[in-house]
Amino acid sequence: MKKTKGIVLAGGNGTRLYPATSGINKHLLQVYDKPMIYYPISTLMLSGIRDILIISSEYDLEKFSKILGNGDQFGVTFSYTVQTEPKGIAEAFIIAEEFIGEDQVCLILGDNLIYGKLNFLRDALNSNNGGYIFAYEVNNPQDFGVVTLGKDGTIIDITEKPINPQSNYAIPGIYIFDSNVVKYAKTLTPSKRNEIEITDLQKIYLSNGNLQCNIIGRGIAWLDTGTPAGLLDAGLFIHTIENRQGRKIACLEEIAVNNEYISIDFFREITEKLPDCKYKNYLLSIIKSKFD
Ligand code: TTP
Repeated sequence: MKKTKGIVLAGGNGTRLYPATSGINKHLLQVYDKPMIYYPISTLMLSGIRDILIISSEYDLEKFSKILGNGDQFGVTFSYTVQTEPKGIAEAFIIAEEFIGEDQVCLILGDNLIYGKLNFLRDALNSNNGGYIFAYEVNNPQDFGVVTLGKDGTIIDITEKPINPQSNYAIPGIYIFDSNVVKYAKTLTPSKRNEIEITDLQKIYLSNGNLQCNIIGRGIAWLDTGTPAGLLDAGLFIHTIENRQGRKIACLEEIAVNNEYISIDFFREITEKLPDCKYKNYLLSIIKSKFD
């Protein structure tokens, strides 16, 4: 795979989840049985990205680093950088300039949950030649960045939260860019809502002729957990699948051992340190199954 750095953007205001977010960062809220941020991290890890920057407010970063540490236990590297104020998604690339360096970067929003076979993402990481976005059919496109596609799949237009959307294709909060993204992000001016918009960044790549877009089919679930109903839906979704299969979604230790980011011996060591709980029992059952 092309060398790719990962960013999880986990700042913001969390206004739509107020008062649940009045004392806690949205991405630390629970989606069924684990913190929300586990899900976007799992997406990056499952697509082979192991160098991950977490961006959030100064106040919240401490908590993220308490939960996630330096990533050793998952065989990845976590670093942390502050976004002083939520000045827009595109600001992440300016903040992450040093981290990105000369590499390709994949940014995922901390409140986006993707479930399903991630081949579409791995393929995009390998074939990206500038910027790469995805399109996903939703029934409330006006709440998202929206992409209009021509019959041959070419991108005709991109609009941020349009009042009258020209298509039902929302752009999920996972974006891939080459390292030029930093330079382009620096040229952006804040929008009417005073944010540096990710859609403006995409438009730069579009006008340069190197923005690709791929439709993610219905076989993939893309959930946005940023509203009370969305958070509940996501929790129920995870519960339903996990309960049916007896397998956990976004269990970072399991992903790490299955992808050989950590050894089974190390997996056992970290499992033994966990408090007695169902999560620990699940990890113990993985150890058992590896030796059966
Ligand atoms: P939003 O959901 O657009 O904003 P928010 O999280 O502040 O929530 P609300 O609209 O309810 O106030 O943000 C999408 C994701 O991006 C979310 O995970 C937070 C993150 N984000 C940042 O980390 N920094 C930013 O400057 C912005 C705009 C968003």
